[in-house]
Amino acid sequence: MLRRLITTTALLAAALTGAAGGTAAAADAPLRDLAEARGIHLGTAVTGGKLTGAYADTAAAQFGSLTPGNEMKWGSVEPVRGQYSWTGADRIVDFAEAHGQRVRGHTLVWHSQLPSWVSGGTWTPDALRAVMTDHVTTQVTRYKGRVHQWDVVNEPLNEDGTLRQSVFGATLGESYIADAFRAARAADPAAKLYLNDYSTDGVGAKSDGMYALVRRLLAQGVPVDGVGFQAHLILGQVPASLEANLRRFADLGVDVAVTELDIRMTLPATAEKLDRQKADYAAVTRACLAVTRCAGITVWGFTDSDSWIPDFFPGQGAATPYDEQLNPKPAYAGIAGALAPVAPPGPAGCTATYTAQSQWGGGFTGQVTVRNTGTAPLAGWTVGWEYPAGQRITQAWNAAVTQTGTAVTATHLPYNGTVPAGGSATFGFNASWTGANPPPAALTCS
Ligand code: XIL
Repeated sequence: MLRRLITTTALLAAALTGAAGGTAAAADAPLRDLAEARGIHLGTAVTGGKLTGAYADTAAAQFGSLTPGNEMKWGSVEPVRGQYSWTGADRIVDFAEAHGQRVRGHTLVWHSQLPSWVSGGTWTPDALRAVMTDHVTTQVTRYKGRVHQWDVVNEPLNEDGTLRQSVFGATLGESYIADAFRAARAADPAAKLYLNDYSTDGVGAKSDGMYALVRRLLAQGVPVDGVGFQAHLILGQVPASLEANLRRFADLGVDVAVTELDIRMTLPATAEKLDRQKADYAAVTRACLAVTRCAGITVWGFTDSDSWIPDFFPGQGAATPYDEQLNPKPAYAGIAGALAPVAPPGPAGCTATYTAQSQWGGGFTGQVTVRNTGTAPLAGWTVGWEYPAGQRITQAWNAAVTQTGTAVTATHLPYNGTVPAGGSATFGFNASWTGANPPPAALTCS
């Protein structure tokens, strides 16, 4: 819980000034800073070849983590057996390091974007296992200490939650997953190792299958550190069970992360759809923040000019937080708003001030103002004082007032107990006096 409370920086100060300017300052902070202050990373997939100019500037300024969109896939790094080509992947890792960003490595073992020598080969189980673990070992070793999280196995399941019959699943059964994770752990013990899939975001048959798989793997001692939820979502269809689903996996003792977030819509985008998208992005962000073990969120491309959606879902698009000209869309504000700093509950406190308003022979009217000096709302208040000269309360309004001897106690009524931070409540009374009518020396407020 503590990590959810901001502990540092100007972000909090900006939020706490209470002035519009302060709020604006917090809202203007880069997403990566807002996210870090809330204890999660906010990352993006990038295309290495585009990392120049405004695209590079935005990727560096706004995102605390980068994922190569394609450059670390098997077909990119080992197109020919045993011949590795690291140029594309290196470029992104170097860029990330130069800009203080972490890297999510994506992905080591996947049925798609596999070189044909793997997907089209005829394999004995032992030969395929050796090829797969060699690949994992070589790639993880290459980036040892430089990749924070690896998607070790991507998309292992069918829609119904059973094991996908990829070349790996069909040849090796579920055991390939354990072997891939063990090889990755041996190659870089510090990297967080993730199992990643799509359509597992909400509770359902596929995520139930993933849940059961993760339990089995953990029971066998397989080093699974995290589960990734791709979250390639459709406008207006953020699963209602997203947060509960993340939480049930976290409760197994693994981290969770939203790894490939985009929210597609039928084109053309309209103001109304973009507003809906803003709310959807905010909802996903809040779901991650609500789950302590949610390590972060990665968007699958930060600009609509660099999104896979139009190519893979004809007629759909506008799925990312920036438009094609790199202007932030409402979705950007949705994420930023959800990440806005949360003030820690401040010291509760109130003060009470006493005024004798009018006085006549033997009687007077007084008023007490209760002011909330804390940073959280008061849920109720009690004010006390001692009368120094025998004054006696005869009647009160806007508070329940009792007097025992010289001691007066006044408590809120049902309608005025809640006082916002910086706000006040007032109550009044009539009282009697003889001789002199000095005010109380001090008032207590609690
Ligand atoms: C996509 C890339 O964004 C495209 O550029 C590429 O042509 C196909 O793959 N799930 C994944 C990602 O795990 O690797 C995919 O990325 C999107 C779906």
